Amino acid sequence: MSNPGKQEKKLFMTRLMTPDMANFSGNVHGGTILKLLDEAAFSCASRYCKMYVMTAALDHVEFKSPIVVGDLVTFKCNINYVGRSSMEVGIRVEGEKIREKTKYHAISCYFTMIAVNEEGIPQKAPTLLIESETEQKLFNAGNMRREMRKETKEKNLQLHVGLDTMIS
Ligand SMILES: CC(C)(COP(=O)(O)OP(=O)(O)OC[C@H]1O[C@@H](n2cnc3c(N)ncnc32)[C@H](O)[C@@H]1OP(=O)(O)O)[C@@H](O)C(=O)NCCC(=O)NCCS
Repeated sequence: MSNPGKQEKKLFMTRLMTPDMANFSGNVHGGTILKLLDEAAFSCASRYCKMYVMTAALDHVEFKSPIVVGDLVTFKCNINYVGRSSMEVGIRVEGEKIREKTKYHAISCYFTMIAVNEEGIPQKAPTLLIESETEQKLFNAGNMRREMRKETKEKNLQLHVGLDTMIS
């Protein structure tokens, strides 16, 4: 029986990779996977905070193995860290070759999702209840990544100045 007071921190989403998702070589488009990642992050964060959310940032997507047509792909999502309105959703993507009965690790990445109201204004998300040692480690790591993101954003702003000058 479900517990109405329990926080919903995890979400698993599985999709079959179909031919319309692939390029000429049968590999699934990176962009298709990015869209599914965003959908999974949105679902996980909005179910956790019971509000709609917006994607603020996505950290480091590295495709570790090609994902091909016919693979079953599972997006394993977890709310690692919650600030005021921001939530870090960690996603581990696992591919499964149905006939070979094998699984592979395709991607790990982190989305920052922001709880918003109907006007798109950030709202306070529920405070994350830490219920195990693993959750504490995930929270601490999420907090460190938040600090790193702030530093990187500052540095990137300085670098963009050069890019903007070059392009305009
Ligand atoms: C994300 C967004 C709602 C934040 O609004 P904002 O006015 O900058 O809000 P704030 O400065 O009050 O920040 C709100 C939270 O977002 C976080 N945040 C803002 N920009 C961020 C970024 N680039 N990376 C990570 N977190 C970010 C802040 O740290 C803050 O977290 P906290 O509440 O837990 O402390 C706003 O920038 C936005 O609407 N962006 C466009 C989002 C979008 O369209 N996504 C889809 C892309 S197609």
